[in-house]
Amino acid sequence: MKAPDFDFVVLGSGIAGLSFALQAAAHSCVLVLCKSSLSETNTAYAQGGIAAVLDPTDSFEQHVQDTLEAGAGLCKEMAVRYMVQEAPAAIEWLQGIAVHFDEAASGDIALGLEGGHSHHRIVHVKDHTGRSTQQALEEAVRRHPNISVQEFQMGIELLTDTSNAGTFCYGVQVLDLHTQEIRSIPAQAVVLATGGSGQVYQYTTNPGIATGDGLAMAARAGAEVQNMEFFQFHPTSLYQTNGEVFLISEALRGAGAELVLPDGSHFMHQYHPLGSLAPRDVVARAVLTEMQRLNSPCLYLDVRHLPPGKVQQEFPSIYHKCSTIDIDVTSQLIPVVPAAHYQCGGVRADLHGRTSLNRLYAIGEAACTGVHGANRLASNSLLEGVVFAQSAAEQAVRLLEQSPFIPAFAIAENSPAYWWPGMQAEVFQCRARMQRLMWEQAGIVRSVSGLMRCEAQLKVLQQKVKYITSLTGIKQEVQELQNLLTVAELITKAALARRESVGGHFIVEAQTDRLLSENSMIPQVARK
Ligand code: FAD
Ligand code: SIN
Repeated sequence: MKAPDFDFVVLGSGIAGLSFALQAAAHSCVLVLCKSSLSETNTAYAQGGIAAVLDPTDSFEQHVQDTLEAGAGLCKEMAVRYMVQEAPAAIEWLQGIAVHFDEAASGDIALGLEGGHSHHRIVHVKDHTGRSTQQALEEAVRRHPNISVQEFQMGIELLTDTSNAGTFCYGVQVLDLHTQEIRSIPAQAVVLATGGSGQVYQYTTNPGIATGDGLAMAARAGAEVQNMEFFQFHPTSLYQTNGEVFLISEALRGAGAELVLPDGSHFMHQYHPLGSLAPRDVVARAVLTEMQRLNSPCLYLDVRHLPPGKVQQEFPSIYHKCSTIDIDVTSQLIPVVPAAHYQCGGVRADLHGRTSLNRLYAIGEAACTGVHGANRLASNSLLEGVVFAQSAAEQAVRLLEQSPFIPAFAIAENSPAYWWPGMQAEVFQCRARMQRLMWEQAGIVRSVSGLMRCEAQLKVLQQKVKYITSLTGIKQEVQELQNLLTVAELITKAALARRESVGGHFIVEAQTDRLLSENSMIPQVARK
């Protein structure tokens, strides 16, 4: 029996995990674990910014309505209202930990525009809002005496027990990626802030850490998971031949960039009155449709008409990235393709991050608070990360004060793990097969028959991975593949259960063959 050294164990060092840690640490001891370095998060790659009503001519009601509309009627309005109202305070809090948002000439915070927003309300730091925010959070966390950080520690299973009062979580089992040892860490409560699962798809804007680990662990422990059919695809990731993924922010379209065909002609108004700034799902499907029609491996963004110096000054990362691959954006078009971007569903959580398991919280992209419904409004994700992390921390600290809980705790046995010859390559191939399968059958356009084929093939892969695990034991790559397969299954099942198209879930039957080939339009060789 061992009492916890920490009140809260937080899995994840993105905006959600670190915001929770900073808020909770005023009253408790927090351990933050992450499976890579502290700074390797989806958060660090965010470009466009954070949505908040700060302009007196804007209103909470307009931000709420824009969010509900993007969510195609499936958002939880109460959660949306809460997030929108808390947004200005969240921005102030971030400024308080030294995130220096861009300012307009007036000295007020500069506000950008993105798709689906009826008003300029995107707070940003050039086109590297995520990196600047991540750095400020990290510095604050590193300075805090009540927060401990352990990097390269991968959560593999939640420790749970069931009594008359239901199932509760009393800690987490962790694989030390340096030593390959497994240990169990007890806690008063566990916070899942493990981000999304873009790696379930062949083409994604998400970094390698986004393997849906927290979601899969929670699902295995019996927590409720929601809205998994709604995966958001971003229409404009840079089309590169070296396999690297780089986002071309929607904020660039907000600043006037236009999506064009290879001959330079505009086409988006044929699909939506808002043209290039139509909702993301509409734009992603339009881009795929045009690629298919023209048999083109990509479409283009045109910024050549923007004032000289604008891209360089306001979007320095995009400008720099394009120049490293010999694209001069002032005279050339930027090649773009769609890619999986954001998991709108997740572990069901209430306004305070509480899941269906006692003492298990879920925040950020790993959670489904209901604010995104069927499709997330641009720049609402970083916002959700801060707002719900803070309310979760307040609630968790209250729980601690009211009912401290010392779990009975057994140290887990450490089982040795090693690669059998050829197994590592086998795992890599299974992962690539699953990613391709998901892209083709459960991607931007889906069909019932395709999803059924996908489900059957996922089962075969699951069996294979079970066998590999029985030989190798717990290895990061195997564990991630298992988690991705769990997420893939959840997406496929949820997609099959919803037979009507809504938001990010677009399902057809009659045109199955044509549309499925649209999904696989992007040449396999060209990208990761
Ligand atoms: P993340 O920031 O992804 O952090 C996840 C953490 O969990 C990492 O520390 C990781 O190591 C850890 N982790 C994962 N699994 C485990 C495990 N098993 N054990 C231990 N640790 C684990 N949203 C916006 O609102 N505005 C934007 O402008 C914007 N731009 C984006 C641009 C790009 C390229 C991408 C990919 C996303 C963008 N998003 C944007 C979405 C947004 O960045 C993410 O939704 C958000 O950052 C998620 O934050 P998070 O804290 O939930 O998770
Ligand atoms: C972008 O900058 O285009 C991404 C914004 C988002 O995902 O909210």
